Amino acid sequence: MLLSKKQPSAPAAATQWVDKVKYQKHKEPYSSKLFVNYPQFRYTAFLFLLLSLWLLLQVFWFPPTKTMRLVTQTTSKSGKCSGGLSVYVYDLPAEFNLGLLRDCSHLNVYTNMCPHVANNGLGQPLPLDNMMELGSGSNPWFATHQFIAEMIFHARVENHPCRTWDPATADLFYVPFYGGLHVSSKFREQNHTIRDALAVRLVDYLQNQPTWRKNNGKDHFIALGRTSWDFMRTDGLADFGANRLLNFPCVKNMSVLTVERNPWKGSNQHGIPYPSYFHPSTSDQMVTWQRMVRRSNRPYLFSFIGAPRKGVGKAAIRDQMIKQCMESTQCKLLKCDNGNPKCYNPSEILKVMRESRFCLQAPGDSFTRRSTFDAILSGCIPVFFSRHTAYTQYAWFLPEKASEYSVYMEEQGDESKRIEEVLMKIGKEDVERMRSTVIDMIPRLTYTHPNASSSDIGFEDAVDVALQALARHVRNIIP
Ligand SMILES: *[C@@H]1O[C@H](CO)[C@@H](O)[C@H](O)[C@H]1NC(C)=O
Ligand SMILES: *[C@@H]1O[C@H](CO)[C@@H](O)[C@H](O)[C@H]1NC(C)=O
Ligand SMILES: *[C@@H]1O[C@H](CO)[C@@H](O)[C@H](O)[C@H]1NC(C)=O
Repeated sequence: MLLSKKQPSAPAAATQWVDKVKYQKHKEPYSSKLFVNYPQFRYTAFLFLLLSLWLLLQVFWFPPTKTMRLVTQTTSKSGKCSGGLSVYVYDLPAEFNLGLLRDCSHLNVYTNMCPHVANNGLGQPLPLDNMMELGSGSNPWFATHQFIAEMIFHARVENHPCRTWDPATADLFYVPFYGGLHVSSKFREQNHTIRDALAVRLVDYLQNQPTWRKNNGKDHFIALGRTSWDFMRTDGLADFGANRLLNFPCVKNMSVLTVERNPWKGSNQHGIPYPSYFHPSTSDQMVTWQRMVRRSNRPYLFSFIGAPRKGVGKAAIRDQMIKQCMESTQCKLLKCDNGNPKCYNPSEILKVMRESRFCLQAPGDSFTRRSTFDAILSGCIPVFFSRHTAYTQYAWFLPEKASEYSVYMEEQGDESKRIEEVLMKIGKEDVERMRSTVIDMIPRLTYTHPNASSSDIGFEDAVDVALQALARHVRNIIP
């Protein structure tokens, strides 16, 4: 099942999604010329009253409070390590991380990874074309590959204010192994000994470190950009090219950050967001983007981006969704069969999502989808059909109450058979409240640009949140 996961190729440029934003940005709330054209005082007074009311509405409706909260954090944080933690980064032999990149054209059996591993894993910059006049800082938009979180995480931690070079003072020990990139290069390797070899060497390496023995690795962690299923081969079952990395006793003592944890056997696994395309380096860029998304026109009630699947089971549900979307006048469908280039174009994807109020997160090859994070980035309320697409995955990052930011429909239940009707029933205020929560979630689910100076960022991103949660977790498990 994992083998069929689509690998997006380097996308082309696109710009349309910005035009509206630009328009809104320059749209002035009122014009003083109005007064000149109305000599009569009563009219003027009446107009003035109307305008004042309107301005008041603006203040309450497009709450600048959210923005302010972010900005306040900026000034108080000022690039210092918060959360009272310190993380030590192992200087692993190159074969475990950067050395793998030398052969980037063979890192993935489906696609050439060289464009994707560029820029510390952010991938190729997306052309700006006015689309992102996002305040100060460098271009924050990249065609980031969905399975590359481990590289971005590494680059971020290396440049993190909580990093320490002294293992004696560290609370956390980060093992920067590019396990996801490595495993995908061995998907077609029949010989299990060869497939597991690098993981075996990593385990040997770790157990020989004095820093490991102190707490038997309980304060160690790795971050993986692929799903845990790719590292949990059980011999005898169909293995989809997986290795055994996460089954080694040594790795079971560590914390494993992964874009998809195994909900049943993953007690030491913690979900981290898939990377999306936005990697800002200043809080100004983040706040500006949030403001744009908040004001976006959303003519579609819901949208579905995805491919039909061959076979039964999951396939049937997807086909159902595509059918329902095609039958609805309020649904935008981006059908990803026959290599539809729009599906590999980040701007095209984000445009559809920014024009939709709800975004269906259909089950795919595995439970989770990168698309969930693209939707949130676009301010589109996710609709889930499995608890394991987000709720059991990203506890560190998501609000506790799922109904505050998402809609849930049982995959086999009745509601998923009449999606439009169910979504129509949700009141306007509820939709607005949920969307506001979704937009507030963006910073925590974003991987900021690894080279950003921490004093410019001023909000907590996915890596900050993960490190703080991990430090709390480790304090609890080490006596
Ligand atoms: C970050 O800075 C380093 C050193 O200046 C540079 O080599 C690297 O390419 C930069 N990364 C990105 C993503 O721009
Ligand atoms: C798998 O590879 C190992 C190491 O190269 C070798 O010793 C072993 O004989 C191979 N096994 C099979 C079944 O080919
Ligand atoms: C894992 O931790 C336990 C203690 O909780 C320890 O007894 C065991 O040796 C550790 N395993 C490895 C492989 O380090």
